[in-house]
Amino acid sequence: MSKDYSKYFAPSIKDARKRLQKTTNTIAYNLDEELIGIGIDKTYSIKTYGCQGNLADSEKIAGIMEELGYTLSDDENDADVIFFNTCAIRDNAEQRVFGELGRIKSIKTERPNSLIVLCGCMPQEEATVEKVRKTYDQVDIMFGTHNIHKLPEYLKEAYLTKEKIIEVMSFEGDIIENVPMKRAHNVKAWVNIMYGCDEFCTYCIVPYTRGKERSRSPEDIIREVKDLANKGYMEVTLLGQNVNAYGKDFTDSNYSFADLLNDLNKVDIPRIRFTTSHPRDLDTATILAMAKGGNIMPHLHLPVQSGSNTVLKRMNRKYTKESYIDKINELKKHVPDISITTDIIVGFPGETDDDFEETLNLVKEVDYEGAFTFIFSPREGTPASKFEDNTPNDVKKQRLQTLNKLVNEGYAKGNKRFEGRVVEVLVDGVSSKNEAILTGYTSHNKVVNFEGTKNLIGKIVEVKIEKAYSWHLKGSLV
Ligand code: SAH
Ligand code: SF4
Ligand code: F3S
Repeated sequence: MSKDYSKYFAPSIKDARKRLQKTTNTIAYNLDEELIGIGIDKTYSIKTYGCQGNLADSEKIAGIMEELGYTLSDDENDADVIFFNTCAIRDNAEQRVFGELGRIKSIKTERPNSLIVLCGCMPQEEATVEKVRKTYDQVDIMFGTHNIHKLPEYLKEAYLTKEKIIEVMSFEGDIIENVPMKRAHNVKAWVNIMYGCDEFCTYCIVPYTRGKERSRSPEDIIREVKDLANKGYMEVTLLGQNVNAYGKDFTDSNYSFADLLNDLNKVDIPRIRFTTSHPRDLDTATILAMAKGGNIMPHLHLPVQSGSNTVLKRMNRKYTKESYIDKINELKKHVPDISITTDIIVGFPGETDDDFEETLNLVKEVDYEGAFTFIFSPREGTPASKFEDNTPNDVKKQRLQTLNKLVNEGYAKGNKRFEGRVVEVLVDGVSSKNEAILTGYTSHNKVVNFEGTKNLIGKIVEVKIEKAYSWHLKGSLV
């Protein structure tokens, strides 16, 4: 342990890879009452990077901070505790955070008593912790994805000892229930249904940063959704890295993701969404649960990553182009109006022009209505970071451009099909450009702008779509 640290516990990728623990411990969050009030007259700010899982974690951090007495500041330049809840999925996500840490250094010089906290997925990486320790002295506290609930203890210790704290767990993970949440919205909410990932796609850091797959109990999830419905929430998005694996870790029941959807279909809340699905684990029971409609929204994000079987195999995705397309056809058969979106990686090590061509063909065949596209980014500790990669960068960039052109046609086509239709829109707020224009999402997850008054915010209204644009729809209230 270094002298300047009151706690020093660094991550280990080797330990993070292990999957030995048979059962999952569920621990109830319990705040040491003595700490309530340590944040009185103090403020905090949070910058969140990465996926919805991190957005939900930031709501937990905010919940804990408010319980301690801190108040939220929109401006990190004058906050007393400054959080960066980080993402490690690609190098550019990390570089942005390092840039921010550099920028924020002056705050620490001006206000030495402020605390800078780095949390989320980046501290789960050995290399990041080393780099921050050596070059970013302004960071006071680093903790990972497994110990958000220990934040009050870290703050207390940092104030008392004036020393730095690094505590990152590289174990398989527990479930912590009852963490208070300060939700960012009062109409739409995130609900974690499971944590972690056991898929170990060869390019991906998530199984190392988030631990093993562990499902919350159906009772806890259903209770949370009912509670949100009672509070007036209109939409929940169920979160997991692979929601289709929900329940696979239960040792005493066969309760599955489809069962959860069927149970939530009975809860009186207008909209249920979920993300992310894994093509291998998406089963007929889930497709049939979606087919029932009701509050289960007709949109599925089903990341394919590549259309080449050789690449899929090297990615360890455990499905083929053919089996993926079979599932898409089954989906389209049972949920005829469904909107399908995806994630695609180009420039995976060894991807040839022919492999890439197969991805383009698959995109055309599936008719995606949207896709997030990425250039492969090697992540230290993952198998693919050691794969031989001979494709020049400019070729990868060219592939991304070609793919994006095709994907954009899909967005436009997917929007066009709603022209002339009357759709239900959950109104989010006013347009950033014009106060008189409301904006919201359709059940198919399309953005709609239309004229209306602010009293409609938070309600579901019917809108007739008049014109489709590349990224949104325009309509008028009916
Ligand atoms: N659990 C989800 C999302 C994972 S991260 C899933 O399995 O679909 C979101 C997306 O980031 C992935 O779908 C993948 O397309 C992309 N991604 C993950 N690791 C990456 C890497 N090393 N380089 C580039 N893109 C990556
Ligand atoms: Fe990463 Fe694959 Fe797990 Fe998704 S399913 S989080 S891509 S390892
Ligand atoms: Fe990023 Fe961690 Fe989510 S790596 S995508 S924040 S699980």
